[in-house]
Amino acid sequence: MKVLIATDKPFAKIAVDGIRQEIEAAGFELALLEKYTEKQQLLDAVVDANAIIIRSDIIDAEVIAAAKQLKIVVRAGAGYDNVDLDAATAAGVCVMNTPGQNANAVAELVFGMLVFAIRNFYNGTSGTELMGKKLGIHAYGNVGRNVARIAKGFGMELFAYDAYCPEIVMTNDAVKPLKSVEELYASCDIVSVHIPATAETKKSINAALLGRMPKGAVLVNTARKEVIDEQEILDFMVARPDFKYVTDIEPGNNTEMTEKLAGRYFTTPKKMGAQTSEANINAGIAAAKQIVDFLANGNQQFRVNK
Ligand code: 3PG
Repeated sequence: MKVLIATDKPFAKIAVDGIRQEIEAAGFELALLEKYTEKQQLLDAVVDANAIIIRSDIIDAEVIAAAKQLKIVVRAGAGYDNVDLDAATAAGVCVMNTPGQNANAVAELVFGMLVFAIRNFYNGTSGTELMGKKLGIHAYGNVGRNVARIAKGFGMELFAYDAYCPEIVMTNDAVKPLKSVEELYASCDIVSVHIPATAETKKSINAALLGRMPKGAVLVNTARKEVIDEQEILDFMVARPDFKYVTDIEPGNNTEMTEKLAGRYFTTPKKMGAQTSEANINAGIAAAKQIVDFLANGNQQFRVNK
């Protein structure tokens, strides 16, 4: 059995070594494709792979068609919007993610970006503090829960909205559950976005929603760029000079955002949320173990396609 790691954004070496150990201990072979620049390199690499470990790498119908021996794809991470689930199902390929494994890394970055934003991007002028501010957690999954845990150390007041999470989970964490996304944005000084990119959520964070936020508000996005209406956030921020936006996913209109929103907008050049040795080890080794357990025992616990 051949397991391929296909990562445009490579794991830390220590994580690759750990994955190799898991795969070889099971008697399988490991192949590595990192930092590829052309899709053709991916198409060539998957030809004889029985299993693939990916990150945000795009696994579309063409890749699945090229991977004739493929049985399983594991997205080492949370969001699997980069995998064509229907094409995988049609080809009899199991798709999994590794929920929670990189959540702390992403949550820590939220605070790195927030402090940077409210201290005016370290430009030497007087900023503000997180203590006492109202933080809205937009979706209370694995990352949202880690954000809540860390926010308590900063002395923030916590609110969350999640259409799918039982309120008791939030109240047990001393987080106030709100009834709607509109109420969340209207109630909070800072909102941290943790929704996945789905047909329902794409472009759902728009000017109408942001317009509910109070003066001096900050939006931090470590989730997906697709959930933001990019034209609307640009126009909204031009009209609202008090508003700041920090994101870990470069928007399509980054050039215009940078030009028009100087001093109030920041994006990482490459998504950094899960880019720690710890998260790479956790997610990468979980992916390797899930592949071994699937190929050897048929365990499908983390399957996300039908
Ligand atoms: C995830 O969905 O797990 C995060 O967005 C991390 O993505 P990455 O593995 O591409 O850094």
